[in-house]
Amino acid sequence: MVSIGLMFTVGAVSLNLPDGPGSLTRRLCAALREGIQTGRLAPDSALPPSRSLASEIGCSRWVVTEAYGQLVTEGYLIATTGSATRVRGTATGFPTGAAHQLAPPPRPRFDLTPGVPDLAAFPRSRWAEAYRQAVLDLPNDLLAGRALISTSAARTTLTDFLRRTRQVQEDPSQLSLTTGSTAGMGWLTALLAKLGHTRIAVEDPSWAGLRAVARRGGITPVPIPVDQHGLVVGRLSEHRDVRLALVTPAHQFPVGVALSAARRLELIDWARRVDGLIIEDDYDADFRYDARPVASLQGLAPDRVVLLGSLSKALSPAIELGWLIMPQPLIMALLGLDLDRIVSPSPITVEALAVMIERGWYERHLRAQRLRYRRRRELFVDALAQHLPQTQVTGLAAGLHLPLRLPPGTDAAELVRRGARRELGLVSAERYRIRPLDDPGLVLGFGNLRDSRIDEAVQRLAVATAESVRSPRRRPR
Ligand SMILES: Cc1ncc(COP(=O)(O)O)c(C=O)c1O
Repeated sequence: MVSIGLMFTVGAVSLNLPDGPGSLTRRLCAALREGIQTGRLAPDSALPPSRSLASEIGCSRWVVTEAYGQLVTEGYLIATTGSATRVRGTATGFPTGAAHQLAPPPRPRFDLTPGVPDLAAFPRSRWAEAYRQAVLDLPNDLLAGRALISTSAARTTLTDFLRRTRQVQEDPSQLSLTTGSTAGMGWLTALLAKLGHTRIAVEDPSWAGLRAVARRGGITPVPIPVDQHGLVVGRLSEHRDVRLALVTPAHQFPVGVALSAARRLELIDWARRVDGLIIEDDYDADFRYDARPVASLQGLAPDRVVLLGSLSKALSPAIELGWLIMPQPLIMALLGLDLDRIVSPSPITVEALAVMIERGWYERHLRAQRLRYRRRRELFVDALAQHLPQTQVTGLAAGLHLPLRLPPGTDAAELVRRGARRELGLVSAERYRIRPLDDPGLVLGFGNLRDSRIDEAVQRLAVATAESVRSPRRRPR
């Protein structure tokens, strides 16, 4: 019989402390070591203070300090006086990369992680057929390399599609193919840093992935708040040296609002005034359930907006395909970059997408997903109203996530930990903020949660929420 053991959490990752032979210290070491080897505990991620991990596991603090000490000796962890013990970074030579790819982490049974599409709905047979067709049709010359540009036919197909569905204004020559938005942001950052940019306005809160890419490329993120109309554009002028802004206009991540019409115009005005650029992260714009998807900002100001898109939400991040639409002058500058450093997608993948689009399969998939997600979101909202009436869903009926306000006094971090023990994959809004939040709620993903599991997931969430209410502080006498 497989022993389930005890679940515990390190950040947002839940690990299993197996029952069985060996001292608790040895078993804790093994659980953490395995988390690091499989890449689930990312390089540089901080481990919880020994006191809080000990209280979560229900052991003495000494067990945790011993385990941390052992893993420092083995080279898996780094301890620095006065700051958290961390997983050793890849830069220092720890070989996490290969292990990470070999052993993808199992998804939680009740997967409420934001941003994950319905993995069971991936159109396997259509994609396989499109891929087969692409392999048969691809000219020999294109087998020589990767596809920064790809065939003109495939580029025209994708360009026409984006014009139709996202109302972009572009010529196929403005389209570059990437392995995803994060990769696209990497090139763009290299290019913008070369052109002299050192700071970029980012939404606070926002997804940390793209911000981190900018920072690694030498461009410092400058947080700008978000309200119910999206980015508070008026605050940009407080930062005179900022001429770049990274935004999610169609569906702000994670707040879930759309950038209002007035703010869109104000933002474009700002970009023109400062001779700057807006980077539009169009990550889940295909999915709007109460209205038609909001058209891209790029279509309003193609000279000032770079659009970042990918198949990650619509199909799967595993396809590793995305695109960048850039104003012409940037394309010229891109060609001056060291192109060898750019990782482009496979031309076969690009051709396969073109086949999917030409045969109408991609749009059919999007339509089916829109219906599926809309229904799933409704079921989810209904279950929350029934089992957790003291919470409040905010944001638009769109995308793959919904922000949830928790009852006053709920400790969101504790809720994430308690949820992990109940096989819920939860993320606190805290993860996305730059400046502290007063009352972080949760950001709940519903994309990869089966309809049949919604009710049980929400019931488990209700129990974990009730357990995570902070005890009221005693008033000083
Ligand atoms: C808001 C947001 N933007 C961009 C991305 C990156 O997508 P990609 O997989 O194309 O790099 C994500 C991925 O989760 C996201 O949540």
